[in-house]
Amino acid sequence: MSENKQEIYKGLAGVPVDYTAVSKVNPESNSLLYRGYPVQELAAKKSFEEVAWLLWKDELPNASELAGFEKQERSMRALDDAVKRVIDELPLTAHPMDVCRTAVSVIGAMDPSADDASPAANLAKSIRLFAKLPAVVAYDQRRRHQLPLIEAREDLDYSSNFLWMTFGEIPEAQVVDAFRVSLILYAEHSFNASTFTARVITSTLSDLYSAVTGAVGALKGPLHGGANEAVLHIFNEIGFGPDAATRAEAWLEQALAEKRKIMGFGHRVYKSGDSRVPTMRKSMVELIKYYNRPDVLELYEGLEAAMTERKGILPNLDYPSGPAYHLMGFDTLTFTPIFVAARITGWTAHIMEQAASNALIRPLSVYNGVGERHLE
Ligand code: COA
Repeated sequence: MSENKQEIYKGLAGVPVDYTAVSKVNPESNSLLYRGYPVQELAAKKSFEEVAWLLWKDELPNASELAGFEKQERSMRALDDAVKRVIDELPLTAHPMDVCRTAVSVIGAMDPSADDASPAANLAKSIRLFAKLPAVVAYDQRRRHQLPLIEAREDLDYSSNFLWMTFGEIPEAQVVDAFRVSLILYAEHSFNASTFTARVITSTLSDLYSAVTGAVGALKGPLHGGANEAVLHIFNEIGFGPDAATRAEAWLEQALAEKRKIMGFGHRVYKSGDSRVPTMRKSMVELIKYYNRPDVLELYEGLEAAMTERKGILPNLDYPSGPAYHLMGFDTLTFTPIFVAARITGWTAHIMEQAASNALIRPLSVYNGVGERHLE
């Protein structure tokens, strides 16, 4: 077989590249398990802190482990002055994902144990990023509105504190709960593009902060995490308010005629529906009721019905989470950084797994350029 006839697996689609014990995505049964537990059960009964611990440590924490972890996390939430100064230097035109990526890099550069790859040091770094990312995300949204940073509150759980640092008030329980559910659903999803990026960087024996910085870059793209932001751009194009379903149908006709990809629909692994959507949709509907915005549901359902009828392609998690974050009051550009704050748990669990049984990730390519030639 000539070199050019060799089979290649574009986008690594369908190619298993390693084992993982962190999570199992099963498109046949439309299920997602974190360390064996269905994500729907975790979203119904557990805090985001408990899920983070589960992803890192293989088991849910007992009461004293949870209390110890919560105490540690709450004590680490503040942004160091140097990180705040670097954020302040960045222009307001910088995408919040660029701010987030830069902040992770600075947090890493300031950690004297950045290059210690022992399991204990990597866990400590994971907890550090987990604790500090809400401050980065919240502060960046606030500075765009010329508002000052709000200090973290140690008496609040992770989800409530995140909302407190962003908005300066603690929302009603159903809002905090919808936010908590979204974080748990976003926490982990096996070998997606950003997690794989983190594993590739880890496989070179680079440090955890470098791996996370690269992962943030991968997540920014609209084919991956950037889709939740893109869904809101679509909703804005269609327009909220009366008759949203009719306008959604007309918008879709035109978008498909222009061969546009409809963000928030489709998935590389799930082909008959994303297992996380029903849970997030339920939380979004709670928010719609709370904020009394039936037009959002009409738009959501109108576009979904039109897309299913025209293309048979179903929504992914970004489709309900985008409108949910919008209703909570987050800026559209802040949606993907929230995804970072959630996925830091899964990324770091994978980084530790990769480090524990490492093999340099280095695939082959099939050359299809010009044949060998020589200088005159
Ligand atoms: N809008 C319009 N068409 C879509 C589509 C979408 N969201 N998703 C898939 N399709 C079409 C493709 O154009 C392709 O059509 P073709 O066979 O005529 O070329 C067909 O469905 C198969 O899709 P493909 O691109 O091969 O699927 P994939 O597994 O490579 O891609 C995604 C998966 C996620 C990249 C893709 O569905 C997508 O771009 N979705 C929008 C972005 C998004 O929401 N990302 C978040 C993922 S969680």
